[in-house]
Amino acid sequence: MSEELRTVWWEQGAVCLVDQKRLPHEQVVVRCEGLESVASAIKTMQVRGAPAIGCTAAYGMAQAALQSPAADVAALLADLAVAKDVLDSQRPTAVNLAWATERVLAKARQLGPEADGPRALAAALLEEAHAILAEDLAMCHAIGDHGAPLIPAGGHVLTHCNAGGLATAGYGTALAPMRSAFAQGRAIHVWVDETRPFLQGARLTAWELQQSGIPLTLITDNMAGFMMQRGRVDCVIVGADRIVANGDTANKIGTYSLAVLARYHGIPFYVAAPTSTVDLSIPDGSGIPIEERSSEEVTHLAGQLIAPAGVQAAHPAFDVTPAELITAIITERGVVEPPFVPGLRRVKEGA
Ligand code: MRU
Repeated sequence: MSEELRTVWWEQGAVCLVDQKRLPHEQVVVRCEGLESVASAIKTMQVRGAPAIGCTAAYGMAQAALQSPAADVAALLADLAVAKDVLDSQRPTAVNLAWATERVLAKARQLGPEADGPRALAAALLEEAHAILAEDLAMCHAIGDHGAPLIPAGGHVLTHCNAGGLATAGYGTALAPMRSAFAQGRAIHVWVDETRPFLQGARLTAWELQQSGIPLTLITDNMAGFMMQRGRVDCVIVGADRIVANGDTANKIGTYSLAVLARYHGIPFYVAAPTSTVDLSIPDGSGIPIEERSSEEVTHLAGQLIAPAGVQAAHPAFDVTPAELITAIITERGVVEPPFVPGLRRVKEGA
């Protein structure tokens, strides 16, 4: 992704997004003018990727505050609690969404008693949303710094889905170590899983890497094992939607299969994510809610029916990779190696 292309930004009262359903062929900006359109953009995946939906939801909260007719701070806090419920319910797996809405709501509760009325409080919440966006970008660059040394010179990295600039405020999580290694002059090559059924790999990751001049080869998801067996993959780096206390990690459906393959072939399997994706409130992966999406996203490709009409299709959008299959977790505060329980507590809470 070029440095100029932004994923999400605030412009004259609107939450603006580059419509990720139209990429790579068209760059169309969506202007969300209210809570309903922000929620819809998240649900329909015009914006997607855990950190990017977190940033979008933070702006959605600020916008809800600025548009609220509340006459006092207590009424504004009540409106914000409703907005948070609406936004959080759009996509259940990526914890960054609820993390971001909670951060804005907590800020409102903290500043509320001292605020000079609801308008002043709403203005402060917009500043908080700006801060979340800026911090996300900084975290992605730090993930790049920490992760780049893990990629060997001349290395072939395999990635799944899109955990690039489009999935974040910019620069990406899984793509960050690749970007940083490449920027340092290291020759690398990326195998990009197309990522059925939504094709984030083919449509978004391939496009981002191409824009950045990073050598890549697109493969269908079922080619990954073959490439590993032939010794053509040196490491796997993926993003995450939620990493729980023991290190179990939810990410795009198909990630678990890759982790099993990587273990079989003795290939390092890395997860790259900011600490906003770490959820210590859930002890292990069995507690992670898995989003079920429409079966039409499986039976149809670009609006075209590709299966027998009326056939039943399943669409779990995420799976959970057990911690034991993960070599290390790359965060903005450093690389966490097993045992993950103390390591994740340390980076999340400074414990
Ligand atoms: O359904 P999506 O496209 O929102 O899923 C995205 C992923 O699974 C990403 O790998 C994850 O959110 C990390 S993005 C930095």
